Amino acid sequence: MPTRRAALEQLQKLTFTPFVAPAATILIPPPVALAGDDESNSMVPISAAWSAADGLNSLGSEKKFVSFEKSAYQAMVNDQSRTPLFEQAIINRLNSAEGGPESQVVLDLGTGPFALFAVLAAKNGAGKVFAIEASEEAAEAARDTVKKLGYDDKITILEGFSTDISLPDGMKADFCVAEIVGSVASEEGAYATILDAHKRLVKNPNDPKSWIPSRIQTYAAPASYTLHNLFLPPAFDWTKLNGEPVRFNCRDEGLQLLSDPVLVEDISFANVEKDSGTSTKREVVFSLSGDRIQKNIKSFNEEFKRGRLPKEEAERLSIATGNSVSGIALWPRLILDDSVEVNSRHYPDGGHQKSHWQTVLPIMAATPVTVTAGDQVAVSFDFNVPINVMKPASYKIDGNVIRR
Ligand SMILES: C[S@@+](CC[C@H](N)C(=O)[O-])C[C@H]1O[C@@H](n2cnc3c(N)ncnc32)[C@H](O)[C@@H]1O
Repeated sequence: MPTRRAALEQLQKLTFTPFVAPAATILIPPPVALAGDDESNSMVPISAAWSAADGLNSLGSEKKFVSFEKSAYQAMVNDQSRTPLFEQAIINRLNSAEGGPESQVVLDLGTGPFALFAVLAAKNGAGKVFAIEASEEAAEAARDTVKKLGYDDKITILEGFSTDISLPDGMKADFCVAEIVGSVASEEGAYATILDAHKRLVKNPNDPKSWIPSRIQTYAAPASYTLHNLFLPPAFDWTKLNGEPVRFNCRDEGLQLLSDPVLVEDISFANVEKDSGTSTKREVVFSLSGDRIQKNIKSFNEEFKRGRLPKEEAERLSIATGNSVSGIALWPRLILDDSVEVNSRHYPDGGHQKSHWQTVLPIMAATPVTVTAGDQVAVSFDFNVPINVMKPASYKIDGNVIRR
């Protein structure tokens, strides 16, 4: 299951922790040559393809696809690099309204069990708030929350999928808050949902001020990954992932970037194209940075030592890992308004930071590809984000590591 939902629910399984051996265990990896150790081979092909398969289509006619665990919702609420910034953007928008906050009809699309942004809008003076939630359980909890907090006169919870819902009496919202953003920004169906909301739910859909966030983005950079270097075939067959990315906590030092990040997906909510969906093809050439490789080697050495590898083994493996590419890491960035943005990794360098979103790493070769400073990774990003909410997005990245 590739979405943020699945990732959050499986946080323990999917983060770097499996590498850290129990106190009494010493991991000694076999001295196996890495892929691409043959220096005469100057181009090494890499590729991965996957789909946001647990989107709507996996539930047939039920349309109940989104069902985060309560702990996942709580992680979102507690995300200090996200939630206070959304509140700031909501306040900015309410206070900039000509008729004042009280004049504003707000839509919280995908409100969750805490009716989080609906409550923040009401608390900060919005005149009327509608909150839509597809999950029956979350909608019920949202109703309870709103009642408990005494906002049930101002906030109306509408249960169901937004594409099936209209606001009462033909009303439309002055602005819509929609945090339906995945770790690959488009993977939770934001594009199709916003395209529909354009037509029916918002007064001035082509105005960026009608949307919080006003645009959602995905950044990418080639990455080295400890476990890919530690667990090699035949002991571990990475091709069995079938392109399904590994997901990391954005603070996980087991993944390090090899170059500056590049924007590979950029969806403006005010400008969602009307007919074709986003079939985005981008060719990118990343140049691998010597400075990054040196820093990464130091960091990997610490990681391997924490994982109780003997000193010499940790040194050998950190050099091998630092000089290798496992795939292209991806993570989201949200532009909330002209002055507020939310980053899941540090911007612009892609450094580690705390976030409830994850860094997504498709493993793009059976074994890590050996590289050195100045080598290049030339890939084509082919992201297909349908206009039909019932169809999951699909992602393909392929190209070559070009060694000098
Ligand atoms: C990522 S959670 C965000 C919850 C809350 N707004 C927050 O930011 O903490 C997204 C929520 O949106 C709901 N959702 C996603 N797409 C939706 C849609 N098109 N219509 C209704 N609910 C949707 C999901 O069920 C989920 O509860």
